[in-house]
Amino acid sequence: MQAVILVGGLGTRLRPLTCNTPKPMLPVANRPFIDHVFSLLKRHGITEIILAIQYLSEAFEKFYGDGSQFGLELTYVHEKEPLGTAGAVKNVQQYLNGTFLVFNGDVLTDLDLTALIRFHTEKESKLTISLVPVEDPTAYGLVELDESRRVQRFLEKPRWEDVTSNLINAGTYVIEPDVFRYVPPAQFYMFERGLFPVLLQTGDPMFGFPSNAYWMDIGTPEKYLEVHHDLLMGKIGDNFPGQEIGPRVWMGEKTEVDPSARLMGPAIIGSKCLIEPGVKITGPVVIGNNCVVGADATIEDAVIWDNVRVGAQSALRNCVMAGNSEVGQGATIGGGTVIADNCSIGDGNKLEKGIRIWPGVSIPANAITF
Ligand code: GDD
Ligand code: MG
Repeated sequence: MQAVILVGGLGTRLRPLTCNTPKPMLPVANRPFIDHVFSLLKRHGITEIILAIQYLSEAFEKFYGDGSQFGLELTYVHEKEPLGTAGAVKNVQQYLNGTFLVFNGDVLTDLDLTALIRFHTEKESKLTISLVPVEDPTAYGLVELDESRRVQRFLEKPRWEDVTSNLINAGTYVIEPDVFRYVPPAQFYMFERGLFPVLLQTGDPMFGFPSNAYWMDIGTPEKYLEVHHDLLMGKIGDNFPGQEIGPRVWMGEKTEVDPSARLMGPAIIGSKCLIEPGVKITGPVVIGNNCVVGADATIEDAVIWDNVRVGAQSALRNCVMAGNSEVGQGATIGGGTVIADNCSIGDGNKLEKGIRIWPGVSIPANAITF
C-alpha cells in the first residue's frame, strides 16, 4: 500500500522554529520529525511514500533524496500554492494505484496501521478516519460515531458548546481513490471542511477507527517539548542515536564529557559535543551534534539543536534552542522560551515567559533582565 504524507503546512503556531525549517523536518530526538512517521510506516511494510510538499519544500529532498538510503521509495509532489489537505492529495492522484493511506505530517503515533487497514476493508468503507480521545477537542476535528462506528458528524475546531464527544480526528486516513471525484482539481480544498461533510451528505460509507494508541500533534512549542518528554520517558518505543552510557542516557560518537559533569537521564547528547566541568544536565534533555556546554552550566527539560554553544554558568530550563545559536555566560533561559536558529543571546540575559526570539537576532549582554 502507498502512503501520502501531508507536509506542506506553514507551521505558524511553531514559529519561529518553522521560519527556516518545515514542521515535519524539525529535529525530534536528533532526527527529523518525519523520520518517526517513516519508521511507523516501515514497521507495517509501507515503503512507497508520496510527500505533498509546499512550504520550504527543498528541505525534504535535500535530506532524503529518493529515499533509497533510508529503505524508502519517495516521490515529491510540489504545490505552487497551498491546496489544502484534500486538494494536496488530489494533486498527487496520478501516482496512486489503489487504496492508500494519508498521514498528517505532524503527528507522532504508534497506531496499529495494519489493524486500521483491516477495519477499513471489513467495513467496506470508502474513507476511514483514525480517532483518539483527547481532553480538549476544540483544537482538533471532532468526530461522532454511531454504534457500527460509522461517522455521523465531523466538526473541525468545534466551540466548547458544540463538543459532544472526546473522539477527534487523529490525522491518519485509509481512502478509496474514487472519493476524489468529489474534490475539485487545482484549488484549495480541505478534508475537514470539504470532503468529510460532503461524504456525510452523499452517504458514501465513512467510518471511524478509535484507538488508545500513543498520539500527539507537535503543532505548538509546548507540544514539541511534550513529545520529547514522552519519547525520552519511553511512552512510545523508539531507537535513539548513540550509545546508552547510563540509565536512559544516550551519547553520540566523539562527545567528551568532563568527569565532574553530572548527567541525569533521560537525555540524548549528540556526537562531537563538549560538556565542560561542573555541568549539570537533568532530563528530559536533548542536545544536538557539535554543541558546547560551558563550565557549571545547568540544563533541564530542554531541547537544543545542532551547533549550539551555551556559556559557562548559564541555566537553561523548559526551553528550545534551535541550531547555530549561542547563549553567553551567566544567562537564564526558561519559562517556555523559544530561541530560533542563528541567534546570539549575550551574557547575563534572563529570558522567561514564553518569549520567542526570531532567527538571526542578537541580544547584547544584560539587555533583558526582568
Ligand atoms: N501539502 C500540503 N498542502 N500540506 C498541508 C496543507 C497544504 O495546503 N495544509 C496543511 N498541510 C499539512 C500540514 O503540514 C500538516 O502536516 C497537516 O497537513 C495538518 O495540518 P495542520 O495545520 O497541522 O492541521 P491541524 O493540526 O490544525 O488540524 C488537523 O490535524 C488534527 C490532528 O492533528 C485536522 O486534520 C484536524 O481535524 C485533526 O484533528
Ligand atoms: Mg497539526
